[in-house]
Parts: sequence; structure tokens; C-alpha cells
Amino acid sequence: MSKISAAITAVGAYVPEYVLTNQILETLVDTNDEWITSRTGIKERRILKEEGKGTSFLAINAAKDLINKTGLNPKEIDLVIVATASPDMKAASTAAYTATQIGATNAFSFDLEAACSSFLFGMSTASSYIESGRYKKILLIGADKNSSFIDYTDRATCIIFGDGAGAVLFEPNNEGLGLQDEYLRSDGDGREFLQATYGGSSYPSTPEAVAEGKHFVFQDGKTVFKNAVFNMADVVVKILERNNLTKEDISWLAAHQANKRIIDATANRIDLDKNKVMMNIEKYGNTTSATLPLLLNDYESQLKKGDKIIFAAFGGGFTWGSIYLKWAYNS
Ligand code: UT7
Repeated sequence: MSKISAAITAVGAYVPEYVLTNQILETLVDTNDEWITSRTGIKERRILKEEGKGTSFLAINAAKDLINKTGLNPKEIDLVIVATASPDMKAASTAAYTATQIGATNAFSFDLEAACSSFLFGMSTASSYIESGRYKKILLIGADKNSSFIDYTDRATCIIFGDGAGAVLFEPNNEGLGLQDEYLRSDGDGREFLQATYGGSSYPSTPEAVAEGKHFVFQDGKTVFKNAVFNMADVVVKILERNNLTKEDISWLAAHQANKRIIDATANRIDLDKNKVMMNIEKYGNTTSATLPLLLNDYESQLKKGDKIIFAAFGGGFTWGSIYLKWAYNS
């Protein structure tokens, strides 16, 4: 019997309508379009403005996009994973609400949190369930409403982050396509450099903490940047070596969109042709868990069955890793 592999068989996406441009940010903080563009590659991001709508709103719309495109019957979905660093609320699962709202009434569901690596780690999780033969249809959604914990007076963070969501369907494949290998890592010593300190169990929100803005995301950008450049390139090299892949073999690099300079550095480390580097940071900024599925959605029409895609991510925690996947369909 041939081994079952776990393939992505469909994608969908959703971004909110409101566009936060560099020009608008110039009116909020001491920054300018030239600085943001040259230091990050970002021109604009999408922000979910409507009161009372959280990450599940983004996740539900991305899932509905996938369902509408493919005609998938949501009742056939076995598991819904919402990869997110910004769940709707404490205690209640964002994935459970999302699954019910899209009609996945025969599924179980859970949230998966690993900061900007959430979706990458979710790919590993979803694939393991498929490879084991336990489940046949897993909806993996990467969704984040970063604007819910960004301080729009802090130029070190507000220029980078945006909101969005992407969804993929994982199914069994018997042609050897889908996830081939992974190299995933974490290092908890990194959490001091990127965190939202208040609002969790260590430091519950207090009126004083909120008044001082301690529930917002803080980052030591330079330290995060250096670690991201080193570690993303390192795991990509390891994945290539372990699978005897040369830069010519690779069809695409799908790297977490945090800063164009980090993505360029990763591609340069393996001397990859820039036409093979997926990039959409200019229009969405860093959408945390959503960057990888948003890339797949934007590039779906260019992807061909058998394409060798190297995924890479780095994020808070620290968390990081790389996945090698063979694309399973022509669209
Ligand atoms: O998703 C994973 C998590 N996040 C990341 O991976 C982000 C990693 N870090 C970064 O992308 C970059 O560190 C930033 C984009 C956050 C900052 O870029 P940088 O090149 O590291 O800038 P810097 O913090 O070293 O600042 C350089 C200069 C400073 O001025 P001086 O001291 O040289 O006079 C800053 O004060 O740029 C100044 N600066 C700004 N100027 C205009 C910092 N932020 C801004 C700004 N607009 N928004």
C-alpha cells in the first residue's frame, strides 16, 4: 500500500476593505512613505474596523471563499484549525465559533497559537492527522486581527502589522504530492523581544496597565530582525540539504511576510531567482498567521501540479521553521 501524503487541495482568502496607507500613517506617527517602503517593503495594510468583529469574522470569510470556489460541502470537514495569535476572546475557542458559522457541524475544532509561525505549525499538525489516515478533510485557517492590539502611536509596530485571513484544505494524496518534510523550532528566551505583556495569565489587564498601553504589542525590532534573518535562512538551507534540493529544483519560496528585507535575505542565502520568491507584503503588511495562505491565494493561478514550494516563517516566542511541500493541482 502506498504511503498517504497530505496535500493542499484548495485555498481561499479574505482581507477587510479598509486600506491603511503609508500616507495615512504619516498623519498618525512620525514616519514617512519613503522610510517605510525602503525599510519594510510595505505600502498599505488592511484593517478590520467594524466594532464587535474579531478574528473569527476574517476566518469565516476566508473559509467561505474556499467553500464557494470549490463547492466543498462543509459537513464533510472533519477538523477546523484556526491558526491565530489574536483569538476572538479568552476561554471561548475561535475555531469552534468559526466551524459552526461555516456549517462544519460534523467537525471538531481548535485554535493553534505560535505567533507568526502559527500557520506553518498548523500545516504540520493538519498533515499529521491526514498522513495517519485518521481524518480526510482538514480546513486550516490562518487569521489575525492584529489591529486589535497595535498601538497606533508607536511607529515601531503600527507601520508593520495588518489584518487578514487565508484558508487551505488538506486532503490525502496517493501520488506522493503534498507535505514532504519539515524542520520546526522554538526558543522561549526570545519572548522578551516581542510580546503583548498584559492581558494574558501572567499579567491580567488592569485599568492602570491599559491606560499605560501595556496590552499593546511591543517589539525590539532590531533583535527580532536579526534572529529572523539568521533562523529563517538557516532552516531553509537545512530543508534543502536534507532533501537534496538545489536552487534550480525549487519552484517557489513562500516566506512569512514580516519585512521584505528579511525575505530577500532568506532568498539571497540560497541564491534564489527573485521571480521564484512569493511577495505580497506591499499590500497587506505583516498579517501574522495569514501571510502564508494569503500568498498561496494570490499566487494560486501560477502554481502547477508538482511545483516544489519551500515555506518558511519566523515569529514571536521565538518560533520558526521551514516546510517542503509539492503542490497538488493546476487551477
Ligand atoms: O513577524 C515577526 C515579527 N516581526 C518582525 O520580523 C519585524 C522585525 N523587525 C523589523 O522589521 C525592523 O527592525 C523594523 C521595520 C521594525 C525597524 O527597521 P530597522 O531598520 O531595524 O530600524 P531601526 O529600529 O534600527 O531604526 C533605524 C532608524 C532609527 O533612527 P536613528 O536612531 O538611526 O536616527 C529609528 O528611530 O529609523 C528610525 N525609525 C523610523 N523612522 C521613520 C524607526 N521606526 C521608524 C519609522 N519611521 N516607522
